Amino acid sequence: MDWVHTIILIIHVLGAALIIGVAFVSLVIELKLGVDEQFAKLLKIIWKAASAALGIQLLTGIYLAATDWEHVGSNPLFWVKMFLYFIVGTAIGIVNRKRLAKIKAGDLQAAKNHSGAWAGFLVFILVASIGVIMAESQA
Ligand code: HEM
Repeated sequence: MDWVHTIILIIHVLGAALIIGVAFVSLVIELKLGVDEQFAKLLKIIWKAASAALGIQLLTGIYLAATDWEHVGSNPLFWVKMFLYFIVGTAIGIVNRKRLAKIKAGDLQAAKNHSGAWAGFLVFILVASIGVIMAESQA
């Protein structure tokens, strides 16, 4: 067993859990409690944790991809995952940050629109699922 690879994979999976956990908590807060200025402050704090985890995913992901590039690079699912991570993930991040700023400024309409929170949750579930399918197909 390659211990370095195993440890990096464990960190990658824990990072995925943290990102999905934050996306889930953000969604539940929005749907059940609604977002006002107070919750907007809380969301900003937990999103910092998710941003750190996204950076960890990038570094550990590059290691996982580089050490098995022959399989990973030729797998179309990997490129779907990269598209979702870089393009869709960035777009969702920008939309949600802008929305949070509006909510903090007292915009009630922005507080009622939950699509950004749903998108964040569903896209990262999809990204993690693609990771698992890729790992399974290699096993
Ligand atoms: C640039 C970013 C990323 C890269 C380059 C990357 C790359 C990889 C690679 C190469 C694998 C291993 C696949 C295999 O063994 O064949 C993997 C697995 C995985 N990735 Fe990522 N990943 C990234 C971001 C993410 C993110 C953001 C998440 C979750 C939100 C995630 C969740 C997972 C999961 C759950 C696995 C499966 C681990 C397992 O079941 O063994 N990855 N990733």
